[in-house]
Amino acid sequence: MRFQDKIAIIAGGAGGIGKAVSLGLFKEGAKIIVWDLNTSALDEMKQEINQLGGTISTASVDVTDYYAVESAVNDVVNEYGRLDIMVSCVGGGTFKPLIEYTPEFWLKEQNYNLNSVFNCFHTSLKHMVKQEYGRLFCFMSTTGGVPGLAGYGAAKAGCKALMDNIKAEHSRQHITVNAVLPSFTPTPFSMKTFNDTPEGKAQYESIVSRMPLGPNTVENVAKTVLDLLDNERISGQVITLM
Ligand SMILES: NC(=O)c1ccc[n+]([C@@H]2O[C@H](COP(=O)([O-])OP(=O)(O)OC[C@H]3O[C@@H](n4cnc5c(N)ncnc54)[C@H](O)[C@@H]3O)[C@@H](O)[C@H]2O)c1
Repeated sequence: MRFQDKIAIIAGGAGGIGKAVSLGLFKEGAKIIVWDLNTSALDEMKQEINQLGGTISTASVDVTDYYAVESAVNDVVNEYGRLDIMVSCVGGGTFKPLIEYTPEFWLKEQNYNLNSVFNCFHTSLKHMVKQEYGRLFCFMSTTGGVPGLAGYGAAKAGCKALMDNIKAEHSRQHITVNAVLPSFTPTPFSMKTFNDTPEGKAQYESIVSRMPLGPNTVENVAKTVLDLLDNERISGQVITLM
């Protein structure tokens, strides 16, 4: 059991890749606290974990709200005495040509994809620095150059810059921060991109045809996340999966 009794928060952990990460950490012995806005998905996870004979804490926490995240992190530390792992899974882009952006749309993309990661990392760091141990994790993607994803790409590039600073400022406290770039992995978010039209289907086929091993799976992505969380000498890295 690689994560026996580790206290782990998985934000956005009831759906998509996050759910596979939550289950993986649970099976490896961690005490998992799963945050998500999808309360029925949280209930389903509770049942799944109970059927496996385990327990899980869940909460509806909006990770785009810094003070809600801060309060929920503090609740976890008050209850369990520490916080070892924070995995920030929330993210996703909406295709829109840059020329059609409004300032509000730009900020929405930054809030969802960059501020959410800052909120999770910054509020956790305060505790991890004191305990001189921590594992931070987020998800990378295109960092620019994909038509229609300027806001999403800029936000993901920002996540990498944030990771670089955490590595520079907190490695001495045994805190690591890493990310996985999953490659196309079918999830509720990624499948929303392809609407049920001939164009949507063609777009899907075109992406899959360029993948030597076909679409990735959430279990494969989670496996890499767990391997990186388990390594105290790897930090500031983005592992790109085929
Ligand atoms: N799936 C892919 O192909 C792919 C590819 C590249 C990068 N990524 C990245 O991987 C990460 C996970 O992607 P996914 O496909 O699993 O996404 P997903 O949308 O399927 O899952 C995200 C989860 O977060 C929850 N959530 C949404 N908003 C929230 C909020 N404000 N607060 C708390 N929870 C919230 C959702 O309910 C959902 O359960 C994202 O950062 C995404 O950018 C995914």
